[in-house]
Amino acid sequence: MMLRRWWVVSAFATVGFGLVASQAAAPSGLQPTALRVEYLVNPLAVQERQPRLSWEFVDVGRRAARQTAYRVLVASHPELLAAGRGDLWDSGKVSSPESIQIAYAGRPLASRLRCFWQVQVWDEAGRMSAPSRPAEWTVGLLDKSDWSAQWIGDATPSIDDVSATYARRTFTLAEPVTRAVAYASAFGLYELRINGQRVGDHQLAPEWTDYGARVQYQAYDITSLLRQGENVAGVVIADGWYAGGVGLAQILVKTPRNIYGTTPRLLVQIEVEHRMGARTRISSDALWRVTRNGPIRSADILNGETYDARREMPGWDAPGFDDSAWRQAAVGGPARSTAVLVAQPNDPIRVTQELKPIGLSEPKPGVFVFDLGQNMVGWCRLTVRGPAGATAVLRHAEMLDDSGMIYTENLRGAAQTDRYTLRGAGTETYEPAFTYHGFRYVEVTGNIERPRLEDLVGRAVHSAVRPAGSFESSDPLLNQLWRNIVWTQRDNMHAVPTDCPQRDERLGWMGDILVFAQTAIFNFDMASFFKKWIVDVRDAQADDGRFPDFAPHPYGRNDRFSGAPGWGDAGVVVPWRVYENYGDTRILADQYDAATRWVEFIRRENPTLLWKNKRGNDYGDWLSGDTLVAGGWPSKGGEVPKEVFATAMFAHSTDLVARMARVLGKADDAKKYAELFDRIKAAFNAAYVDADGRIAGDTQAGYALALYFDLLPASLRPAAVKRMVAGIDAYKGHMSTGFHSTYRMMVELSRADRTDVAYKLALERTFPSWGYSIENGATTIWERWDGYVKGRGFQDKEMNSFNHYAIGAVGEWLYRVVLGINPDPAQPAYRHVIVRPRPGGGLTWAKGAYASIRGPIAVAWRQDGGAVSLDVSIPPNVTATVFVPAKDVAEISEGGRPASGADGVTFVRMEEGAAVFEVGAGRYRFVAKWAPVRDDRAAGPTADSTPGRSRVVRSAPSQSILTACALPLCSASPFFQRSSGFRSSR
Ligand code: BGC
Repeated sequence: MMLRRWWVVSAFATVGFGLVASQAAAPSGLQPTALRVEYLVNPLAVQERQPRLSWEFVDVGRRAARQTAYRVLVASHPELLAAGRGDLWDSGKVSSPESIQIAYAGRPLASRLRCFWQVQVWDEAGRMSAPSRPAEWTVGLLDKSDWSAQWIGDATPSIDDVSATYARRTFTLAEPVTRAVAYASAFGLYELRINGQRVGDHQLAPEWTDYGARVQYQAYDITSLLRQGENVAGVVIADGWYAGGVGLAQILVKTPRNIYGTTPRLLVQIEVEHRMGARTRISSDALWRVTRNGPIRSADILNGETYDARREMPGWDAPGFDDSAWRQAAVGGPARSTAVLVAQPNDPIRVTQELKPIGLSEPKPGVFVFDLGQNMVGWCRLTVRGPAGATAVLRHAEMLDDSGMIYTENLRGAAQTDRYTLRGAGTETYEPAFTYHGFRYVEVTGNIERPRLEDLVGRAVHSAVRPAGSFESSDPLLNQLWRNIVWTQRDNMHAVPTDCPQRDERLGWMGDILVFAQTAIFNFDMASFFKKWIVDVRDAQADDGRFPDFAPHPYGRNDRFSGAPGWGDAGVVVPWRVYENYGDTRILADQYDAATRWVEFIRRENPTLLWKNKRGNDYGDWLSGDTLVAGGWPSKGGEVPKEVFATAMFAHSTDLVARMARVLGKADDAKKYAELFDRIKAAFNAAYVDADGRIAGDTQAGYALALYFDLLPASLRPAAVKRMVAGIDAYKGHMSTGFHSTYRMMVELSRADRTDVAYKLALERTFPSWGYSIENGATTIWERWDGYVKGRGFQDKEMNSFNHYAIGAVGEWLYRVVLGINPDPAQPAYRHVIVRPRPGGGLTWAKGAYASIRGPIAVAWRQDGGAVSLDVSIPPNVTATVFVPAKDVAEISEGGRPASGADGVTFVRMEEGAAVFEVGAGRYRFVAKWAPVRDDRAAGPTADSTPGRSRVVRSAPSQSILTACALPLCSASPFFQRSSGFRSSR
């Protein structure tokens, strides 16, 4: 039924290319496609000497299709590859089911080498596929000696002059160009232009890192932009994170700018190849000319951009421009800098979508407010008319106040204001480049002509990671919740997972991404993003082993803002998530020492194994119910005691380090940390858990954490679940949980077969709940349950973001429980997947998918008239355990035939109201007789406090992620553990 419509598989037909000589390819129906190198498609600069290769398969729909062997060819020239010769590497036929994380093992790779590759596979019947389409990667600049470019800039520090620097260099190419690559980086931000054309589509390059430790460079193919004869390279250089404003600086270091350095610097190296092997190189050096008299008068990440179009310099980035008034570039990098240059490993920040306003108002004469209909991130393109010298001022905000004016108080010190001064050319168009804002509303003022609705366009700007997840159900509230989660994630990815995109903070807060990591992975392909950011985390680790509270950490990693329970632990949890979802053992190997140093730091300071000492800023289960400011809600009793929280986190990190050691083959360490985990658990139980299962504080959160981290003896788990549910009832059927425990409670309710309670919480519309925020117009996840309360108004302006993903970690529950897509921790990276949807909450259907690293996994279920149908699609080379809700296997059909005898379907057992089947790749349609479980088991206050739910929810914003990322697929992940098919997290 419905599956047909949305089941579009991203794979495309692969045309045979360069057949491996001497072997005639028989069509096997298993065809490799979607080749990637270090998670990227045809990357232009790869820093790894042994990059890892992966591929997926064209879905031919054949059941149980799997790979039994592969052969990778890597050649230095496409013709060699076409002839079936891998002069760099011929893996030979390798008997292996593996299609991901295949480390290159050929001839040593030299800088700049282009590597052309393809793969051929054998299926389960030994049939050979046609070779894949060729793909390629280019080796980056591996050694310092590869760089002849020098850091250049304007000598005036940005303390004295905040305008952007324009740099240019004219050069002549004597011969035609066969290929040209530009490498560029900056301490600051840069935009490269060649002969009047913008190079690439990166935004905010080279992106944010710890500039004291490393700075990224980008590579661009500029072959088509160069010509024989005179050429010009032009670059705009802005302050960015390096020399401009960085979150919390005003509070922490009293200086709002120049945190890493005062003078932005640029590095450019253009390498041109001509016929017959001739080469030309143009590097940044003293021959470049610079000026600060261009149109960008100031540009700051937090505050916005000021642009004076009267100062534009037509033709400055092309030949023929007179730069005699410009100065000679100052040469030299930041003093004493030890930063290393690394090729950008992550998907670049890009403009990913345009949003048209859904409304334009004029709350005061001459004050125009555009409504983009969506809390978004990026900036606007404005079309404007007015006299020369007139200035249009664009102020950005998330909310409106009661008078319809933009509400900016919660932005604190972030001005988020762009100013455009007209040159008087009739109709002019402006778009900033070196800032970003978090906003839904844009106020436009100035002595300009009255703006029209179509004069403004919102441009969404963030790390352009590949969409991976989709979710839809019969309940519009859940659908809006999912959209809000996805948007909040998009809004908080700028090479760093930030807490918020609007106020003067925007830091890579570790606790937030710790809880959100799995949801993030379900929504988008985060492999390369986390690969980059986890290095920021290591760069920020204190010498004594403390992980930072946020990374990058610009404020002294050995001083403050390091070592907080639940924040530092992200240095262990996030790489583990990457391993579970992408099978990335290298990230574990790279992080292992850092992770053990963190655990050893806690142990060293806390000989009793209760984390009492050295908890840094000790945020605890941040923003629990105790922080609500609203009538009728207690300010005590919701928050799990901080020591209990901290000790639980210590136990969890230790558990994960033991698992890491096991994966990495470090048997002694695995044993040591597993024993330590057991001892911490014992200490936890002795200190905080009563014989009847009561956990100190008796909070919903305490139970959720102890259950989720498997800290309790099995005999006490049922009691803990009971108390957790009782805690929800005591809180009038709502959550009193904070950042760390909210989604964990949802997951644990389902793991304990109380999905009925979880649905109730997910579908709740009364305060405090996700539904309440949606009913009040939220298009992103709020930082606080009570960010806005009817009658009371906004929460404390000092901390009230409307675009914070932490409590949006409930996305994990949507994927794992409503759709039922669960990775199997025992077979990481979706080698095997556990499909266990849990219909409930009055939903009649749900559908979604997750584009795993091995291919798309899709699920759709529908229940009506006493029957439930479950459509499942498993990609080639993946196996699945599928739970079909039913009382008896005899009542289940698959593809219209009894399920137990269906092709490729093996019935295993009945378990907890479901028949359990093992399947291989393919598309399956199970139909079962099924009486849905009643959803009102959590009686008492839970039921009472849910007054007549309206089925009507505000309609989805006109431009949603669905338009932006027309992905039919979606979600998955590792969790519940127990023979039940529910797997515990970890
Ligand atoms: C951030 C949080 C962060 C927290 C630490 C806040 O200001 O916005 O999301 O985790 O500080 O408790």
